[in-house]
Amino acid sequence: MQRKILVTSALPYANGSIHLGHMVEYIQTDIWVRFQKMRGHECHYVCADDAHGTPIMLRAQSEGISPEELIAKTSEEHQADFADFSIDFNNFYTTHSEENKALAEQIYLANRDAGHITTRTISQAYDPEKEMFLPDRFIKGECPKCGADDQYGDNCEACGATYDPTDLINPVSAVSGATPITKDSEHHFFKLADFEQQLKAWTKAGHIQKEVSHKLDEWFEGGLREWDISRDAPYFGFEIPGAPNKFFYVWLDAPIGYLASFKNYCAHENIDFNEFMNPDSKTEMVHFIGKDIIYFHALFWPAMLEGASFRLPTNIFAHGFLTVDGKKMSKSRGTFIKARTYLDNLNPEYLRYYYAAKLGSSIDDIDLNLEDFQQRINSDLVGKFVNIASRCAGYITKKCDGLLSAELENPELFAEFVDQSETIANYYENREYGQAMKTIMTLADKANQYIDEMKPWALAKEEGNEQQVQAVYSMGINLFRLLAIYLKPVLPKTVEQAEKFLNSELLQWQEIKALSNHTINKFKPLLTRVEQQRVLQIQSDA
Ligand code: MSP
Ligand code: ZN
Repeated sequence: MQRKILVTSALPYANGSIHLGHMVEYIQTDIWVRFQKMRGHECHYVCADDAHGTPIMLRAQSEGISPEELIAKTSEEHQADFADFSIDFNNFYTTHSEENKALAEQIYLANRDAGHITTRTISQAYDPEKEMFLPDRFIKGECPKCGADDQYGDNCEACGATYDPTDLINPVSAVSGATPITKDSEHHFFKLADFEQQLKAWTKAGHIQKEVSHKLDEWFEGGLREWDISRDAPYFGFEIPGAPNKFFYVWLDAPIGYLASFKNYCAHENIDFNEFMNPDSKTEMVHFIGKDIIYFHALFWPAMLEGASFRLPTNIFAHGFLTVDGKKMSKSRGTFIKARTYLDNLNPEYLRYYYAAKLGSSIDDIDLNLEDFQQRINSDLVGKFVNIASRCAGYITKKCDGLLSAELENPELFAEFVDQSETIANYYENREYGQAMKTIMTLADKANQYIDEMKPWALAKEEGNEQQVQAVYSMGINLFRLLAIYLKPVLPKTVEQAEKFLNSELLQWQEIKALSNHTINKFKPLLTRVEQQRVLQIQSDA
């Protein structure tokens, strides 16, 4: 049965560059989407820049440009990074759009009219010079515990203490340097507890990973608190209908940005947006996210949708965080690697493979160990996979005019490779990419062993063996072709080159039949070994 699936990755903030931590998510999602498309499903992959909020407003001010200019500039940079990593979005949009404004208003008003919004006055830190309320991270001061200077917001980098920003000693506004005062203002709150029963049921119904659902249990036990969804002017965002000078908090309209990007795409592509959004929809909506934003996606988001009579997500797939050489990415350690720095030095397909080899369905962190990275690529991709084609191609091109044999030399071995097809497909489907890569590399070992044992180069020394030698090399190329199909979601560019060499398009998973009496093209090296120099370079450029 053909599935219809809307897939999203979390929306990157529009005030910073894409780094290799982000890329875990976009690569994980892109592999899944490419896999679904190869299986013949209708799959739409949308994303956008997350363009609203105080940091973006202040960043634009400090650069002396408008927020609109900042987000346009960032969008271009982000899209170039994604394209170069072969992240194949069907649409990459922005949350600062007409579609998003309309949808945010619609979802807010539906919730308001159903009684799920309340207002109350709260007091907050305020910068009297800049005339704005200050989010925690824009207040600096001395740590109340250890006295360390220049600590931000609500935790101390020196001693690790957590506290309220109001506890800071000698607090100053990071924006103007003024001493913050406390000021009252009326805020709008979303009554999350109204949805407690539905959320409890929903989070137990297989839409999220088990370990995530356990985490949510703790939150349920702590009680679902009202969510502050408004911010006072000046704020870069959407004004709340019926509440002049109050704006939607960025996290309200951010997930709605998934729908807005999809709606924008539907209008161009003649896809029925409502078929995907109605509460009885037979389609799927799948969100890939990092584990830091589970609360927003597994509680606020389904509740907001429920309150507005939209469909709920089919799945929320959370992943862990990237560490580099075992540690949190850090600028001072040279492990905060931007996507562009990597791209300037190394082939993006290496990273796609490396992440695939490391990724599973859990929220465990994954480590980019640069030595292991180099070794893994050289051994698996160059030494095993590409090696099969490069050792078989020469003879077929030179001695057989590129023609493959009419019959498979070893049909049993070929059948063994075909037999793994559904196992590998299941691994992809369940995001067990590491298991998929392992299975594929075991097959690659088998293909190389087969050639080693048949010793076609020795056979070729004696006359009269031409047909047998051609058959062995043809067999090798047919095995390579199956592995190319299995690896295509991970290595789109490499496999595109392989398709040219094979003179055969590998569009669908089902293309797992043998080529016979088929002419292939001249072989060009598909991937080269990772150069140590380049790996060192990305660290020193970080
Ligand atoms: N703008 C919000 C998401 C809104 S979605 C409606 C946001 N942006 S982000 O730029 O900080 O992160 C985007 C995604 O990248 C998130 O899913 C986040 O978890 C992921 N990652 C950011 N740093 C990461 C690592 N170091 N490792 C793995 N994923 C990381 O959050
Ligand atoms: Zn401290």
